[in-house]
Amino acid sequence: MARRARVAVLLSGRGSNMAALLYAAKDEDCPYEVVLVSGDNPDAAGLRVAEAEGARVVRLPPPKPTEKAQFFAALNGELKNEGADYIALAGFMRIIPVDFITQWAGRIVNIHPSLLPKYKGLDTHRQAIAAGDRFGGCSVHIVTAEVDDGPVLAQTAVAIMPGDTPESLAERVLIAEHQLYPRALAAFVTRENDPAWIEAKVAELALALPETRFKTSHGSSAWRVGSESSGKFFAIMWKRFHGEDSTAVLVKCSGQDELAQLVDSEPDIYFRPAYYGPSDWVGVRLDRPNVDWDHVGQWLQRSWRAVAPPRLTKLTRAADQF
Ligand code: GRF
Repeated sequence: MARRARVAVLLSGRGSNMAALLYAAKDEDCPYEVVLVSGDNPDAAGLRVAEAEGARVVRLPPPKPTEKAQFFAALNGELKNEGADYIALAGFMRIIPVDFITQWAGRIVNIHPSLLPKYKGLDTHRQAIAAGDRFGGCSVHIVTAEVDDGPVLAQTAVAIMPGDTPESLAERVLIAEHQLYPRALAAFVTRENDPAWIEAKVAELALALPETRFKTSHGSSAWRVGSESSGKFFAIMWKRFHGEDSTAVLVKCSGQDELAQLVDSEPDIYFRPAYYGPSDWVGVRLDRPNVDWDHVGQWLQRSWRAVAPPRLTKLTRAADQF
């Protein structure tokens, strides 16, 4: 089986969602493993559960109000040491500093007990009942700097019954949470290996550049810059490498010297594509963990510049000077 994504779980209390993630990961087909459980409360019941299951638990002293930055720096050190790819928040009750979120951009997920964007923050069930909603529920979302914001990955609606109290509704929503979170996390960590998802990401970046359009090249998805008739390719999807299935994008580099140097220094990322290599195309592998999509975007931009007609590059060069 392929390498499993390494997930760290952060919690502050009971840890039932952490347990749901951990139990799901016992299935050998689960695409993630829980490599670390930690949080801001060394006495949290959830940490004892994790320990009993043999998970690695790190107890950090609770941060004093003035020492929040040190706490998150220490936590970050633990996460990096453990080689975590993702962080799953499971009842972690601290607001995470923006610089920490930026470092893990797109790699932190959270479960929230409401149908977002409804009822961010606390007391969600009381609000849903008071509003007369027919459904409460839960959402798994990517964590961004705004609390309980960020793209929603998956949701489960839970019917509100006559006479429901916030507690009775919370109980049923929690059952739904335990079903939803492991499934949503598994889908999230595998989508980065899904060729269709990777291609959609490349398409988004390629089409964001001026005067670009989709066109196939020898049967592969590709993007050109310039007019319909005289445009030139600057990005080409690549599906195989060394006979094995892998997903990559080909972009133009500056020449054979740079191509050799890239492949030499970072063979996990770069390769010389058969047939295209002699014309200065370099392959950038995209089905590895922790792809830096900003970096891919920079490559696409460079490649675009290398082949775009002067009337377009002139404009961007002028813009760069400001
Ligand atoms: C859950 O309701 C979750 O949605 C919210 O905090 C609660 C944590 O419960 N973010 P538990 O610690 O996972 O049992």
